[in-house]
Amino acid sequence: MHPIIIDSQLLKNPDQWLPADYKKRQLVIVTDDEVKKYYGDKLVESLAHASPLIVSFSPGEQSKNYLTKQMIEEKMLQHGCDRETIILALGGGVVGDLAGFTASTYMRGISYIQIPTTLLAMVDSSVGGKTGINNAQGKNLIGSFWQPISVVMDTDCLNTLPKEHVINGLIEMIKMLLIHDKEACHYIDVIIDGVLSQDTTMLKSAIHRSVAIKSSIVKQDPNEIHLRKILNFGHTIGHALEKISGYHLLHGYAVALGILVEAKISQLSGILSEDNFLKIVHLFERLNIHGDELKKFDVEAIIQATKNDKKNKEGRVRYVLLKKLGEIFQDKQEIVHAVPDEIVKQALDIISECHHGR
Ligand SMILES: NC(=O)c1ccc[n+]([C@@H]2O[C@H](COP(=O)([O-])OP(=O)(O)OC[C@H]3O[C@@H](n4cnc5c(N)ncnc54)[C@H](O)[C@@H]3O)[C@@H](O)[C@H]2O)c1
Repeated sequence: MHPIIIDSQLLKNPDQWLPADYKKRQLVIVTDDEVKKYYGDKLVESLAHASPLIVSFSPGEQSKNYLTKQMIEEKMLQHGCDRETIILALGGGVVGDLAGFTASTYMRGISYIQIPTTLLAMVDSSVGGKTGINNAQGKNLIGSFWQPISVVMDTDCLNTLPKEHVINGLIEMIKMLLIHDKEACHYIDVIIDGVLSQDTTMLKSAIHRSVAIKSSIVKQDPNEIHLRKILNFGHTIGHALEKISGYHLLHGYAVALGILVEAKISQLSGILSEDNFLKIVHLFERLNIHGDELKKFDVEAIIQATKNDKKNKEGRVRYVLLKKLGEIFQDKQEIVHAVPDEIVKQALDIISECHHGR
C-alpha cells in the first residue's frame, strides 16, 4: 500500500515527500477556497520553482459532484496536463474524494497524493484509495478505487480546524476503534480530552493508531470485497441521514447517530450486550451527541434513504453489526447482514428517545 507520512512542517518541505522526478512533471493542487486561503497559497509558495497549477472550488459537500470534477478536468486540459501530471489533493474528505476520482479518470488515470487537512480526512478518507462523488440518488454512488502514491499528513494544519470538525474526525476514530480494537473504550477514554483540546502529542498518537487500523484493513482487502466492509459500521444510517438533511449534517455527526442506531440494531438482534451498547451511548455523550437529535428526521424517510446503499443486495438493506466493543459480528464469514425494516424502525424509535444526561 501507499506510504503514509505523519508529521509537522510537511507543507513547508515538499522535497521530503514528492517523488524525486517531480521537477520534470506538472503539479496540480486541487483544493477548496477555504483551504486555499490557509494552506493552498503556502503550498504554491513552497513549490514556486515547480510552478504548480492551483484549482479550487467552494467548500462543502455540495461541491462533490460531476460539475466540479468537469471544471477541474477542463482546467487541467487547458493547462496542458498530461499523463505524468501529479494531482496534490489538499483539503478535507470532499477534496480528497473529488481530486482522487479526477486522478483516476484523467487520461485513464494519473498519480495523485493525498494531503488531508481535516482530522476526518487524516484518520479515514485519505487512506485506502476510495474516491467518488455524490449525485441526486445518494452519496459516493459514482467513484473508483484508485490508490494515491502517498498520503502526507501535516498535523500543523489541524491548528486552524474548527472544533466541530475536530469532533467530526474524532467520531470516525471512535468508529475505527469500536470495530477493530479490543481496548477501544479504554483508549478513547484516555485520548478524548486531549483530542478535543487539540493537544498535538495526543492528536498524533490517535491519528497513528486509527491509521494503523485502517491501513491493516485496506491492505487485506483493497477493493472492499470482504473485510473492508467493516469500515461501514454506522454508515448505512449515517449516509441516509446526510442525504435527507440535504448534506447539512456533518458526515461524522451523521455517522455518530448511525453508530448509535446500528449498535441498537445489534443489541435488538441479540448480538451486542446492553452493557456494551450503553458504553457507546456514554462515549458519545462525552461529545454532547445524543440519540434524540434523530427526532429532527422522519423515520420512514430514513428507512427509504437506506434503499440506495451500496451494500444492498437483492433489494435488501444490509448492515455491519457489532458483536462487542472492538469486534464486529460475522456469520459464516459474512460481514454485512440483512436486517428487516421493522427492527431498524424499532432501533430508530428507541434511539430518538435517548438522552441519558436529561
Ligand atoms: N474516501 C473515503 O474513504 C471516505 C471516508 C470517509 C469520509 N469520506 C468523505 O469525506 C467527506 C467529508 O470530509 P471532511 O469532513 O473532511 O469535510 P470537508 O472536506 O468538507 O472539510 C470540512 C470543512 O473544513 C474546511 N477545512 C479543511 N481543512 C481545514 C483546516 N485545516 N482548517 C480550517 N478549515 C479547514 C473545509 O474548507 C470545509 O469547509 C465526505 O464527502 C465523505 O463522504 C470519504
